[in-house]
Amino acid sequence: MGSADQTGCQIWGPLNFIHPEKARSLYIEHVYEHYCKYWCSTRQGFLRKAKTFRKEDTDVNMTGKVCMVTGANQGIGYAIAQAFASRGAKVYMVCRNKERGEIAVSKIRSETDNKRVFLEVCDISSLQQIQTLTSRFNDTNQPLHVLVNNAGGLELTRRESEDGLELNFATNVAGMFRITELLQPALKKAAPDCRVISVSSSRMYLSSLSMSLQFDDEGKFNPMEHYQQYKRLQVAITEYWAKIYGPQGIGFYSMHPGWVETEAVRRNNPKLYEKQRKFMRTPEQGADTVLWLALKPRSKLEQGGFFIDRSARAKHLPGFGTSYTDESFSTTMRVVREKCTLLMP
Ligand SMILES: NC(=O)c1ccc[n+]([C@@H]2O[C@H](COP(=O)([O-])OP(=O)(O)OC[C@H]3O[C@@H](n4cnc5c(N)ncnc54)[C@H](OP(=O)(O)O)[C@@H]3O)[C@@H](O)[C@H]2O)c1
Repeated sequence: MGSADQTGCQIWGPLNFIHPEKARSLYIEHVYEHYCKYWCSTRQGFLRKAKTFRKEDTDVNMTGKVCMVTGANQGIGYAIAQAFASRGAKVYMVCRNKERGEIAVSKIRSETDNKRVFLEVCDISSLQQIQTLTSRFNDTNQPLHVLVNNAGGLELTRRESEDGLELNFATNVAGMFRITELLQPALKKAAPDCRVISVSSSRMYLSSLSMSLQFDDEGKFNPMEHYQQYKRLQVAITEYWAKIYGPQGIGFYSMHPGWVETEAVRRNNPKLYEKQRKFMRTPEQGADTVLWLALKPRSKLEQGGFFIDRSARAKHLPGFGTSYTDESFSTTMRVVREKCTLLMP
């Protein structure tokens, strides 16, 4: 699982004169801020990389394809649903709020002139609501060609879902895990032209796998730290699915959309948002790699890979100390499965 790590001070010579742990955290902060955030994630980073993009990769008609996008009423999810609908796909938009969902569906229908855009009301943090949605969908006997696990976000205080799961975990991890597992019958019907794309974040580079998934100790609740742990888990879960379901003709990919001007960013840090808006990507730019992953022939994509701006990227950065053993990987996947009340496949 990832390459062996070195410590930051071994990598960055100039920091050898200070304490190794301090050097390591300075190194990580420097690389993350400059490389992940400003070099790769900004609008300028996207435009620089977009010069290498091939128009024909996304100029593809999707008529006949059935797609589902979670968290689709705004932000990156909305842009993804719109991109699929404008290419003729049948799109199911999974939204937790009926009113906001209906507005988004009718907007996309009129913007794209595609009437095959439908609302599925489901709070992705609720195990029962996912059960209801997936049973209803599987009962239609339709294939599902593309599932995008996009719904997610950051809860700044410790709250629990209706199932007693910490809410960030319930939305970002349990929701994604359960919907994908329970939609296997529909996904398998679309195989081998079938893929599951999960919207993670470059913040996952700052975290390894954690055994403590519920953060019961309130004093230690640190939302950003937990967010990045869950984003790391999404990448690991994608690797896990690639191993167990990949051979059945389903592609699994995780990706980082970049730093995108959305409601989530505005709500969580309004001051930073106002100051940095001009550096942020549009939701369409954030959605670009998802669209590309949905359209590129599967044989050209790295199974279980993590992607930024239409390229497979490393899942661990040197010196970040985030690699994990096969044993902790298997244990974590078992714990996630138990939390989602799912049996082994
Ligand atoms: N924006 C960035 O810079 C950035 C960077 C890296 C990764 N991401 C990831 O990108 C994804 C989309 O985020 P965004 O920036 O587009 O945020 P956003 O504008 O806040 O959109 C999030 C969407 O997810 C929905 N959602 C949240 N919780 C849900 C739940 N429990 N059930 C169903 N839907 C739910 C929201 O619905 P409501 O309207 O009802 O709240 C909304 O439609 C997230 O996974 C986020 O972690 C974003």
